[in-house]
Amino acid sequence: MSFNNSTYLNAIYRKPVPYTPIWIMRQAGRYLPEYRELRAKHDFLTVCKTPELAAEVTLQPLRRFDFDAAILFSDILVIPEAMGMKLEFLENHGPKLSPRIEDEHSIKQLTSDHLEERLEYVAGAIKVLVQELNRQKPLIGFSGSPFTLATYMIEGKPTRNFKFIKSLMYREPEVLQSLLQALADAVTRYLKMQIEAGVQAVQIFDTWGGIIPIHHYETFSGQYLRQIVQNLSSHQVPVTLFSKGGLNILIQLVDSGADMLGVDWMTDMYEARMAVSDRAALQGNLDPTVLYGSKEIISREVKRILEAFDGESGHVFNLGHGILPDIPVDNVKHLVHEVREKSRR
Ligand code: CP3
Repeated sequence: MSFNNSTYLNAIYRKPVPYTPIWIMRQAGRYLPEYRELRAKHDFLTVCKTPELAAEVTLQPLRRFDFDAAILFSDILVIPEAMGMKLEFLENHGPKLSPRIEDEHSIKQLTSDHLEERLEYVAGAIKVLVQELNRQKPLIGFSGSPFTLATYMIEGKPTRNFKFIKSLMYREPEVLQSLLQALADAVTRYLKMQIEAGVQAVQIFDTWGGIIPIHHYETFSGQYLRQIVQNLSSHQVPVTLFSKGGLNILIQLVDSGADMLGVDWMTDMYEARMAVSDRAALQGNLDPTVLYGSKEIISREVKRILEAFDGESGHVFNLGHGILPDIPVDNVKHLVHEVREKSRR
């Protein structure tokens, strides 16, 4: 399928591009007044589960900024919900999954039966978006990684020290692995469903992979990511793996078969490029809090990241993690403008 704007896809395949493409993680969200307005009328999960609303929110940032891709509006935690857990988003407290997974018995209560039917609203939103986007911009689908989904399922809520999942990891590694394998299968089916519904790329968020000691990373996250990438390879859409774990993890994932690796903001982009070389494209990695800074600071930091690529393709500009809810929209506008102008070939 060809697009009027294929800059994002071409950069992933390291083909020549007229400028460095940009989108930003959480580009649809609370920093946009029109998002807050819509959310005042509908709760978060209602927006995710109503294809017209999810599609509308997906398009909001594209009306304001000239991003090079749209990302489906949803959440990674719809998979645990579809597997039978209760999911709530509590105002100011983030997501809650209950009852939390504690042992083999509670893993057995989960089911992947009818997963596609239970998540049909996601395919519904994608179908609306394919129509609306009308090949102007590619649409990115996504999922959480098995390990990142497991952290929320086992902790039940956001956590500082990951006490429950890490104690299970050391006390009963095979129990944790049975959950991770079930999630790897569910994530694969879920991403296949998204691709069949029409997304042109997928990204897997391994947000918490970096809390695993690197010598255990392959055992509890890497091998499952590898499996998913391999099982998607016949589907012919590029796969991005985003992990918040620095150079160590990039090196572990470079031979996973992923087309692009996400780089967090703690990592130096030039070092990342040297480590990965021509084995994958890279995405990132502006520190999200730079967007609280002045226009001059934003311009300076953009320039530094672009210089790591020396004018070569293989880079998709992004933040090193999601945008924060109180970032001024003018600064986002400036960011997009700076990336476009400073990277023009
Ligand atoms: O990028 C996009 O614009 C697409 C939408 C998207 C959301 N969540 C919407 C959302 C994506 C890709 C996600 C991924 C996600 N969700 C991750 C992985 C990426 C990351 O940021 O680390 C994780 C860990 C989650 C789980 C989650 N969802 C948390 C921890 C929270 C609460 C924290 C917060 O930012 O409030 C959410 C809620 C959530 N997901 C919101 C949005 C726009 C805010 C909900 C609201 O409107 O109140």
